Amino acid sequence: MATRLSLMITAKELHDKLKNIRMGNPVCQFTEQNCESLLPTIERIETLKRDRNAIILAHNYVAPQILYGVADHTGDSYGLAKKARESKAEIIVFASVRFMAETAKILNPDKVVLDPNPNGGCTLADGITAKDVKKLRAQFPEYTFVCYINTTAEVKALCDTCVTSSNVYKVIERIENDKIYFLPDRLMGENIKKYFKKNGVEKKIKLYDGTCYVHEEYQPESVDQVRKNFKDVEILVHPECSPRVVDKANYVGSTSGMLDYVRRSERKNFFLLTECGLTGILESEFPEKKFVGTCTTCRYMKANSLEHILHTLEKPSPSNIIELDPRVQKNALRCVEKMFSYVEDYSNN
Ligand code: 13P
Ligand code: SF4
Repeated sequence: MATRLSLMITAKELHDKLKNIRMGNPVCQFTEQNCESLLPTIERIETLKRDRNAIILAHNYVAPQILYGVADHTGDSYGLAKKARESKAEIIVFASVRFMAETAKILNPDKVVLDPNPNGGCTLADGITAKDVKKLRAQFPEYTFVCYINTTAEVKALCDTCVTSSNVYKVIERIENDKIYFLPDRLMGENIKKYFKKNGVEKKIKLYDGTCYVHEEYQPESVDQVRKNFKDVEILVHPECSPRVVDKANYVGSTSGMLDYVRRSERKNFFLLTECGLTGILESEFPEKKFVGTCTTCRYMKANSLEHILHTLEKPSPSNIIELDPRVQKNALRCVEKMFSYVEDYSNN
């Protein structure tokens, strides 16, 4: 989790942060001139943040000019939910996808939570509805329902606890019931089953059939190819990838977990099987390390822009303002707080 305390960044400082990031095509790199042209928008955003007592939370996958230009906190879905839970600001602008902004509203019903993203979907969150969960609960009454944080507030409201990629194994292991229904990510669910089997944790786990369109694409053969070409490479994988890919990894974890892993590693070459945004952060933070292989973009995360953030702070449209039905908010809060209690109890023991 990164926190920025400075006020307005200069074009030179921004360029220092962005110059090593490859933008898909090696000839497309940030120049000092590009950075200069971003400054008027950044300045207006910073002024509005100060005037309105607002903060900007930005997920590790969004564009680097947001992460380094205006974000107050950056991180994975767990770290940002925690920041939203602790924030004293009156307005939270959440640059990510809809379900993360909704989670901030679940945790802060009395605050204004703004979603600047005009296309903040997620194939996981959009792949299951409250109606689906109601049906499943009726079908499997003896199961504890665990949802991934990549779900709508309505789905969370019907589940017993939620989890994120940074705590999924810990939380499910601590649930007393040995019958678990995990939704909606089938691949993450298969990874949980495999991990528990390997570690002697006895749970009967049923899975929903959702996937992340970015992570399901990765194939074990690409890992083999990269290992062949770079002998000392470290392979880092998000748990939304298939078990065949996860099996080949040196590290499996959340986006911020991967960042910390690279920070601690003494190796030079890394291959990350996750969205390109994370590779961008690492290229910026660790210019002496090499990030090999190709990454993929999430069209939903990349729909965020500085202009959308500015517009949302200046004059939010109804679709930018997160509103939740009070009953959904209350039940979804119980579900999200249950996750925090599992994680916090675990860290205290
Ligand atoms: P993290 O919580 O690991 O950042 O993951 C969120 C996500 O949507 C990954 O695709
Ligand atoms: Fe959803 Fe996948 Fe995009 Fe993450 S990368 S927000 S899981 S579609």
